[in-house]
Amino acid sequence: CLSPALVDLHELEGKIVVVIDILRATSCITAGLATGVEKIVPVATIEETLSYRQKGFLVAGERNGKKIEGFDLGNSPFNYMARECQGKSVVITTTNGTQAIKKSLPAKEIIIGSFLNLSAIVKYLQHKQEDIVLFCAGWKNRFNMEDTLFAGAVAEQLAQEVEMNCDASLAARQLFLQAREDIAGFLQNSSHVKRLGRLNGAEDVQFCSKIDKFDIVPILQGNEILPHLP
Ligand code: MLT
Repeated sequence: CLSPALVDLHELEGKIVVVIDILRATSCITAGLATGVEKIVPVATIEETLSYRQKGFLVAGERNGKKIEGFDLGNSPFNYMARECQGKSVVITTTNGTQAIKKSLPAKEIIIGSFLNLSAIVKYLQHKQEDIVLFCAGWKNRFNMEDTLFAGAVAEQLAQEVEMNCDASLAARQLFLQAREDIAGFLQNSSHVKRLGRLNGAEDVQFCSKIDKFDIVPILQGNEILPHLP
């Protein structure tokens, strides 16, 4: 599913959905949970996010790539890996990533994918019988390059064992094969990389393009995302 605008065309019931927002929500969630954040609750609105403060949560998120005023954390993976987050619960709202998680709720299982945990995601999916939907969060219902590349990376690694019955997966795989030697370089003219460049996010782009820094699979359980080993 290359855009949230297309998600209604996919029946999610009974399927495993991999939510993908490489820049940067799903990379942040992965980095945080892999380095000591206890759990992460994704929510859709700023108001709901703030309601978690009284429960002792750190409040995190962005709109249009910018940290929300008064929040504890923005949406850089480095925020989530900081010492102040160790052992903490975090609530997060973002422009596209957390919205895609919410749209995935009819699925049987929702897992969080990023280049940072690519092999863990693939290993996890290899054990499953269910159909898989790779759900690209995109940007405001539009296609984006980085999420499609990651979907293509998963498609490439599962190509021998999984039947790909969708042209979007085939196209994403071809795109990834062109980009695989230098993901960050391939992305340099893409819209969100330019946007993050204007917001001092160049270091985030480099970090979020790294493959297999972590070996966890974040899984949504109830309303919380928790780390699992693949
Ligand atoms: C999103 O959810 O749209 C993104 O994570 C935006 C960002 O912070 O780069």
